[in-house]
Amino acid sequence: MPSAPLDRATTQFSVAFGGTPDGIWSAPGRVNLIGEHTDYNGGLALPIALPQRTFAAVRIRPDKVLRMSSDGMPGGPVTIPLADVRAGSPGGWAAYVAGVFWALSEAGYAVPGADVAVASSVPVGAGLSSSAALECAVGAALSDLAGLDLLGTSGGRTELASLCQRAENDIAGAPTGGMDQLASMLGRRGHALLLDCRDATTDAVPFDLAAHGLALLVIDTRAPHALVDGQYAARRHTCQAAAMTLGVPSLREVRLEDLAGALGRLPDEVARRRVRHVVTEIGRVGSFVDAVRAGDWAAAGRLMVASHESLRDDYEVSCPELDLAVDTALGAGALGARMTGGGFGGCAIALVSADHAVQVEADVAGAFASAGFRAPEAFVATASQGAGRDRFGG
Ligand code: GLA
Repeated sequence: MPSAPLDRATTQFSVAFGGTPDGIWSAPGRVNLIGEHTDYNGGLALPIALPQRTFAAVRIRPDKVLRMSSDGMPGGPVTIPLADVRAGSPGGWAAYVAGVFWALSEAGYAVPGADVAVASSVPVGAGLSSSAALECAVGAALSDLAGLDLLGTSGGRTELASLCQRAENDIAGAPTGGMDQLASMLGRRGHALLLDCRDATTDAVPFDLAAHGLALLVIDTRAPHALVDGQYAARRHTCQAAAMTLGVPSLREVRLEDLAGALGRLPDEVARRRVRHVVTEIGRVGSFVDAVRAGDWAAAGRLMVASHESLRDDYEVSCPELDLAVDTALGAGALGARMTGGGFGGCAIALVSADHAVQVEADVAGAFASAGFRAPEAFVATASQGAGRDRFGG
């Protein structure tokens, strides 16, 4: 059996750097229940933190040098003076680590050099925010080791999440919104996190599916997924341009009841479809939260399906593998199913009765085999805890 990522991070640290770390911190991946492509439009989203986590074993250095090693990546440590960290330098996975040091320093914090070894159980490239998990584990470590004390309050965690997002935007070059980092920093066991991205406020919504005989099945389609490509940026740009045409700071300010009028003022059909998705999706998040609070799981499931259709038809970020996973899950009796995350591959989620999860998973695997797609992977997700310290000393 492969060892747990906490142990792997410790081993990785001693192999790469010798000795023991000052401590080990971890942060989770996330899955979004509903509210997709709304975060960069100042809208609402409802993610949960996953049980899968990324661990960072960290030791402060007396100089301003950063050395980084990952047990998932071949080759020796990546070494860079903090002063040399900039867009594209370092490249690859190390950008997500170095970017956090850079963003904290840009924010005026005194940031030391460090040796950082990472190991993770968050699937990479599956749209489950392995990059945010890495950034937030490193951010949590720096907060403690540099005495910044940002983990103790939700305000401090929100600030740290926004600095991790800056690392991703400015150093790794992925123009993402803030949902992933907020989920990874502020996630709470047994709760979904209602994010209002207009002002980065959060509200914990009880989300204990097992208590209701239900389960959330996450289906990794294993279709290739990449955010550092033009599609995500293009969607973002269309939304910004539409907001400008409508004379509002973000699409959040377009109310559902004013949608028809707003669409009439947009110049082209693509912009109209994108805006219709964003505005209706923000509305669905509110309705979904109401349904969850009322225990109306059938209504919650219907909203998931409507979200998927909107992402598929209006936002055009689904793909054949995601559509097949959703359709098969629904055909097998799921209450609701939808793609989750940025899209163009990655994962779908299905709300199922707990005793039915295995059957839904088997049906999706069968449908994928018949379609000639790669075999999917699935797991049941429970809402877990955000970033934190796991151990002081090695
Ligand atoms: C990716 C981004 C998030 C968010 C989602 C879509 O996961 O990292 O900021 O925009 O896509 O909801």
